[in-house]
Amino acid sequence: MAAAAGRARRGGRLGAAALALLALLALLALPALRAGHGDGERQEGSAPPPRPLPPGLREELRQRRRDLRRLAAGGGEAAAGALGCGELRLASGVSVLGWGFTKVVARAALAGGGAVALKAVHGAGPEVLQCVRRYGAPAGCRRLAAYKLLKELALLRRLRHPGVVQLHGQCYESSGDAEIRVTAMLELGSPLDMIQLLQTPWEERFKICLSLVKLLFYLAHSPLGSIALLDFQPRQFVMVDGNLKVTDMDDASTEELSCKGDSDCTLDFPTKSFPLKCSVAGKCEGMNEKKNLFNAYRYFFTYLLPHSAPLALRPLLSDILNATGDLRYGINETLAAFEKVLHLYQSGLYLQKRPLLLKDYISLKGFRTVEGEDYKCWPSYSHLGCLLSVHSAEEAAAICNSQSQCQSFTVTQQRTWTGRPLALFQSSLTDLIPDPNAVLYIKQSP
Ligand SMILES: Nc1ncnc2c1ncn2[C@@H]1O[C@H](COP(=O)(O)OP(=O)(O)O)[C@@H](O)[C@H]1O
Ligand SMILES: [Mg+2]
Repeated sequence: MAAAAGRARRGGRLGAAALALLALLALLALPALRAGHGDGERQEGSAPPPRPLPPGLREELRQRRRDLRRLAAGGGEAAAGALGCGELRLASGVSVLGWGFTKVVARAALAGGGAVALKAVHGAGPEVLQCVRRYGAPAGCRRLAAYKLLKELALLRRLRHPGVVQLHGQCYESSGDAEIRVTAMLELGSPLDMIQLLQTPWEERFKICLSLVKLLFYLAHSPLGSIALLDFQPRQFVMVDGNLKVTDMDDASTEELSCKGDSDCTLDFPTKSFPLKCSVAGKCEGMNEKKNLFNAYRYFFTYLLPHSAPLALRPLLSDILNATGDLRYGINETLAAFEKVLHLYQSGLYLQKRPLLLKDYISLKGFRTVEGEDYKCWPSYSHLGCLLSVHSAEEAAAICNSQSQCQSFTVTQQRTWTGRPLALFQSSLTDLIPDPNAVLYIKQSP
């Protein structure tokens, strides 16, 4: 705790909340500090002259610095009005949200209201610990991890897309050679919960897959060239207002793999390998795009796309799954296929010719029922009753016919993200209230 307090004091001007976070991070770093042998390190309190870092670590640091300079050379200044150390010091209500291989992420409230996600190096995370075990140099290892976060920041500044978490600002503080302290301030999201997603309506799962495809399209044609997300897993993404966004970019590669011959360009996954070509320029061309697409297939599409999709769309979805699983499609074809599915779904063209059923319902214009607790159905948009996305009153009638409890329904004013209305299905007709915009459809007893 002494190190934590010492480090927090050294921060001096920091406000209570940011101080608490830094103290927490420093606390997390304590085992790493103890595990270190102190060589090449400037320790708190006593200040022995820094010993040289091990050559391997020095080389890794040099490579990361070079990587950073290359990214920074391409521009990407902080946007006007971006948050900085001043805002960080005034932030409050800091609580840890999660951590990964390299970083720890906390939620914080800004002084002017609004919440952000703060990202910093995880001093006792696997990355720093592995490095300390290897080189025995905690401060050098934390610096190496800080370079990774700086790389992520450089990428986030240059990649602006709805599928990339938004960077609100950063606080960079450097005290001498040994320590750099970087805190990124990001749009706040919530971790992706695959189990929960599997229980949401197909339309919402399709939305997540479509936003991922749009992100991969952007990454394939980004201002920095074709970018691969090397550590592509659901935990590198968060949800913000129902939209999927990538948050972990420190493992992104902005360059295609170099090669001498085709044999250098095999794209290997645990279950499959794809032989690719080595271009005359000595690069495995298209590898980054293909790597992302196959990962999207294996981590997202296979789980989220097919399950309970509208019947008529299933052949198209299974084409998408086969073509991305075999990498027959590139990202351009994949996006086109997704947009075709969206068009068929939005326009109602997917509805097969069916007997017209709405004629069997009595319509009561200018009335609706009170939305109270009623029978449940899957996958309802409301936990109180049966609220489903429909194309039209005709489709709602078909749904009501297929549910024995359903006695009536209304097509509400609420819309899903595709613009389709939600219909409320009910088993009783207790409270009718006047509503000039509503039509209540009542099942006629046979
Ligand atoms: N903007 C954010 N909002 C909410 N949680 C986040 C945000 N960014 C990251 N996280 C959470 O923190 C974890 C670690 O962040 P990440 O950038 O993946 O670090 P690492 O490089 O260590 O894997 C993520 O798995 C995610 O659950
Ligand atoms: Mg991560």
